[in-house]
Amino acid sequence: MIGKQVTNLLNKQINAEIWSAYLYLSMSLDATFKNLNGVANWFRVQWQEELEHAKILQEYMNSQDAKVELQPIKEVPNTWASVLEMFKDALEHEMEVTCRIHEIAMLAQKEYDYATFSRMQWFIDEQVEEEQLCKDLIHLYKMSSDNHALQYQLDKDLAKRKYKMSEHLHAEHWIS
Ligand SMILES: [Fe+2]
Repeated sequence: MIGKQVTNLLNKQINAEIWSAYLYLSMSLDATFKNLNGVANWFRVQWQEELEHAKILQEYMNSQDAKVELQPIKEVPNTWASVLEMFKDALEHEMEVTCRIHEIAMLAQKEYDYATFSRMQWFIDEQVEEEQLCKDLIHLYKMSSDNHALQYQLDKDLAKRKYKMSEHLHAEHWIS
């Protein structure tokens, strides 16, 4: 049984995950517009992963008979000065998401809601990966700032990223 406050935070988290998806879709489209197809692909995968996070939370809430209530999605920027700026913004945003998830985990633990506390463990691990990915890419783009050949190669590498559905998502609920 999920309490009112945790339900409220989970609903806010669904909104934050969908906003993340919207932010990464915007970055992907900005990159497409600038012919950076690898970067565009990388953020497109990121967009799909964020939607997946929202779906995992929805499924979890459904399983616990907690009411999912969708909230308005606030606007996102449409353009970035450079790829480096995109990854810096992405990292800053992921760090905020990490704080929100920690807040849910702390409240769940305080309320003896161990099911939600357990569910948050996956998100906590996921956030460590998300932040590390952004940090690595910031480092790579900083190192290649004056080297166009290296940036071209980086873009080619980012084009290889593929979306893979999480095992925590019940595919039969979403694909028919
Ligand atoms: Fe996420």
